[in-house]
Amino acid sequence: MAEADGGKFDEMDLEAFEPRDAPPCLFVLYGATGDLAARKIGPALYNLAVDGLLPENFAVISVARRPFTHEEHRAEMRKAIEMFSRRPLDEDIWGWLAERWCYEICHAREPAEYDRLNRKLAEYDQQYGTCGGRLIYVAMLPELLGDIIDNVGRAGINQPSCEGGWVRLIVEKPFGDDLKSARKTNDLLSRHFDEQQVYRIDHFLGKETVQNILVLRFANSLFEPHLNARRVESVQISTTETVGMENRRGPYYEKTGALRDMVQNHMLQMLALVTMDQPDCLRCGAIRDAKARLLQQIPALTPEEVARFTARGQYTVGGGKAGYRAEDGVAGDSQTETFAAVRLTIDTDRWRGVPFYLRTGKRLAKKASEIVITFRRAEHELFLAGGCDLRGANRLRIRITPDEGVAVHVDAKVPGVAMRLRPVTMDYSYGGTFESASPEAYEHLVLDAMAGDNTLFIRSDEVEAAWRIVDSIRRVWDKKHDPPIENYEGGSWGPPRAEAIFEDRYTRWLPL
Ligand code: BG6
Repeated sequence: MAEADGGKFDEMDLEAFEPRDAPPCLFVLYGATGDLAARKIGPALYNLAVDGLLPENFAVISVARRPFTHEEHRAEMRKAIEMFSRRPLDEDIWGWLAERWCYEICHAREPAEYDRLNRKLAEYDQQYGTCGGRLIYVAMLPELLGDIIDNVGRAGINQPSCEGGWVRLIVEKPFGDDLKSARKTNDLLSRHFDEQQVYRIDHFLGKETVQNILVLRFANSLFEPHLNARRVESVQISTTETVGMENRRGPYYEKTGALRDMVQNHMLQMLALVTMDQPDCLRCGAIRDAKARLLQQIPALTPEEVARFTARGQYTVGGGKAGYRAEDGVAGDSQTETFAAVRLTIDTDRWRGVPFYLRTGKRLAKKASEIVITFRRAEHELFLAGGCDLRGANRLRIRITPDEGVAVHVDAKVPGVAMRLRPVTMDYSYGGTFESASPEAYEHLVLDAMAGDNTLFIRSDEVEAAWRIVDSIRRVWDKKHDPPIENYEGGSWGPPRAEAIFEDRYTRWLPL
């Protein structure tokens, strides 16, 4: 039961949102000694075990090139879980998981080693009774993806080891670094897997608050009728971070930059979720269809639009921390942007004329992720005519992180004999409403992939539609250097030009 407005009501048990039982499964983790495995995947598996959501017939087969024994690897994973899990390590639960956690050596570029691995996987399948269910997670550098997928396919690891089994593949971003390479990656994947077997992870889609966008829009009648160009003036989506390269991400980030790292995936996905048309159902591919259609309707930017409606920046020293160019693995004359802001439009009857402003950056003043929809002011001039010209704009504010929640800004009368108005906020925060802590995004997504639900994973057409938009910006940034990259002080709100991408002089980035 949950409580609202002092009353009690039943939580709606939507079957479609119930966690499905994960079937018996061999979880094959490539890149098991890497950063992602330690920080996200290991802790996600552990927390699924805490919640009793892993099947009894389950095993993790970690795969990497370093010569570890099972015991040595388990000790490493234990340390990682102690450090990064959202809940403390419980000896019994860890004991259960550790018993089914094995380690195998395989060099990504050595085809013969995959044949041996495939034989071992068949043995593990027998040992742990996983009935040919196989979830392969590639958590490796993108440069190795091609070799791994080809070798996996050649050795037959992409085939179930017995009748009635299944194989699925989780891949991590980046999904290419432009449209051309994304298509190449999609072709590579499709040589060895059906699209239905491929689970491209975007961890933002595993966040509770991002999924709540669907509920807010389609389970309520309050907002949806107003989400269109007649009612909405503009939309801002911000994902700001305080971290820099943290001594480890420089080499990756140098080749990526803010636009590819955040806008191509997380931010365009959030934009698609707030603007797509209502899908026919929740779990039949309809959400992915609706997102893909929406992304295809965002026009690529012309060079003039890139010059006028985008901004990019790079952080310098600030807040007691080094500047980007002094970070490990970063060139002293790097031109990589650590901040990006863009204005996009959507060419549909529903949204034509509404500007969508997206911004993201590292080493900014605050870590926050928010979507703010600003509605047009009331059409009639009733209050204006009465001499109250203090009308604020109605806003719907979806806080993805931190302090997850939703706020609605409306005007209210200031108590007193005069008719004076003041903007007030109706606020709902997750923390104050629900007692249980949200699972980490990776927990949700790993479980979905085990259960064969790809709704919250990105399909190849979405990836390609997003690259088409991003490429149109990158081309002008890289070839014409327009607009030029600007420095911003670490710990600030980004480069001055970020404020200049609005269509009118009055709009500003809203405080986070
Ligand atoms: C990742 C990016 O996809 O998302 C990182 O590669 C970024 O650069 C991270 O820091 C942000 O995720 P979160 O969940 O911390 O907001």
